[in-house]
Amino acid sequence: MNKIIIGCDHGGLELKNEIITHLNKSGVEAVDVGTYTADSCNYPDYARALCERIQSGEFERGILVCGTGIGMSIAANKHNGIRAACCSDTFSARMTRMHNDANVLCLGGRVVGAGLACDMVDLFVNTEFEGGRHTTRVSMLADIEKDN
Ligand code: RB5
Repeated sequence: MNKIIIGCDHGGLELKNEIITHLNKSGVEAVDVGTYTADSCNYPDYARALCERIQSGEFERGILVCGTGIGMSIAANKHNGIRAACCSDTFSARMTRMHNDANVLCLGGRVVGAGLACDMVDLFVNTEFEGGRHTTRVSMLADIEKDN
């Protein structure tokens, strides 16, 4: 993957900027949907802006950062076709790609440090979906969306 979309609120700004620097060094273009300042803002706006560009097919995967990662993951998972995982450890970041085919990684700027966050980002970018029995389960997630 050579490009990814990324967004944050004020609680995730600092970590998002560290992640963008890391991605660029790794040869991955990070398209930043904001927020761009430390002014207080509303995380659902940025989750929506990012998820719509994944839903349109413009991007395959994205990263959202808020204070905890939780608000962003709740907002992202309201969008059809978005499978957002809020992670604080590398095992989960890898497994959510392998088993859940997660397409959005949510991180807490007030929870994890930049070193751990960048390791999780690398796993999220470079780990492939395992398929097989997990394909059935992921398609069951889409069924839940259809029924709601
Ligand atoms: C903002 O203060 C904070 O509530 C937000 O960044 C996030 O943690 C929400 O889940």
